[in-house]
Amino acid sequence: MDKSFPLQGWSSLAVHAGHETDPNYAHLVPIYASSTYVFDTAEQGMRRFSGQEEGFIYSRWGNPTLKEAEDKIAAMETFGLPFEVKGILHASGMAAISSLLLGTLKPGDKILTHYSLYGGTEELITKVLPGFGVIPVIADLRDPQVAEDMLKKDPSIRMLYLETPANPTIQCVDIEVLTGMAKNHGLLVAVDNTFATPFLQQPFRYGVDFVVHSTTKFLNGHGTAIGGILLGRDTERMKTSMTKVHRMLGGNGNSFDAFLLIQGMKTLELRMERHCHNAMEVAQYLSTHHTVSRVNYTGLAAHPDHEVAKKQMRHPGPMLSFELKKGLQGGIDFMNNLKMCVRTVSLGTCDTLLSHPASMTHYSVPKEEKLKYGITDGLIRMNVGIENLPDILNDLEQALAD
Ligand SMILES: Cc1ncc(COP(=O)(O)O)c(C=O)c1O
Repeated sequence: MDKSFPLQGWSSLAVHAGHETDPNYAHLVPIYASSTYVFDTAEQGMRRFSGQEEGFIYSRWGNPTLKEAEDKIAAMETFGLPFEVKGILHASGMAAISSLLLGTLKPGDKILTHYSLYGGTEELITKVLPGFGVIPVIADLRDPQVAEDMLKKDPSIRMLYLETPANPTIQCVDIEVLTGMAKNHGLLVAVDNTFATPFLQQPFRYGVDFVVHSTTKFLNGHGTAIGGILLGRDTERMKTSMTKVHRMLGGNGNSFDAFLLIQGMKTLELRMERHCHNAMEVAQYLSTHHTVSRVNYTGLAAHPDHEVAKKQMRHPGPMLSFELKKGLQGGIDFMNNLKMCVRTVSLGTCDTLLSHPASMTHYSVPKEEKLKYGITDGLIRMNVGIENLPDILNDLEQALAD
């Protein structure tokens, strides 16, 4: 594509951004299955290593397949914004988050975050980082005053880390307000944008420094590969210190998974429109069902985070959770009754996926801990898929029958 041609629409960008003409005119970027790259001369090797000449050296550091995925996501995260960001593809969302945290925080620093983070991130922050002298501060940041009070009294807080909407309770925090406060105190701000994707929400719009994704989810869209990306607003820092950390930690993505990710992302807008349409209908259906005591979906006006989600997201998203009145056994029975929808813990695929945290992901977490994170015995998390709506509703109806 001619790069001077201004793209107007989201799917045009998702299809074309990041693609470079292949030297052999392959239509799609090939899966570069080569660990290393050759130099014409020793002098060229010298120029590549010193950074005087662009070019690939070793696949842990990057290759053309990885680069296309990185550049496509960077373009999507900044579509319509007057600046560029740089992305570094990783082996998983957790690898991207690890590079971020280990590359920016040092002993004595504190990281301010909120309840209801993805479990892996929460454990990394509360169990691994303290071993490196980095202290977590966890609060309910849905009330920005709480954040302001903490920032005022604790100058060692170095980073604000947000995940919105958050896994698994779908709570949202106000990126703009919290980033504004954090910046007044000189903090770095990072947002996990996995649940929303850049189609629904662009955190860089509000001045954040870093965005991370588990690309395993809606960006890939088909459940075919694990992956992650770290994107940064300070492109110089990304090219130097963050690239160094990424290379040294060795959490690089691989070409085959990047290829699957690239193809999946081309339909992001189409998939998300359908996911979100179905999710709204499912949320409305569940909220009137006699076996359901509560539906957590920010698209419903009654949800406490409705206004925040409306402000920063294009649609309320494909994820929701709901509570069954019959608690633990009700959750187990419901899960066992499903006929089309799938029992599994991941999300972001075309098919509707449901999980029951109390009997699955959070089975061994003490009850008081679970409640702190909003996880009750009857809570069901749902990734509403792109199937035809009547089939999703019929499956729920029969699975919920007393
Ligand atoms: C919001 C969020 N962030 C990060 C991760 C970690 O991603 P990965 O499993 O690709 O390492 C997940 C995984 O479920 C997630 O839901």
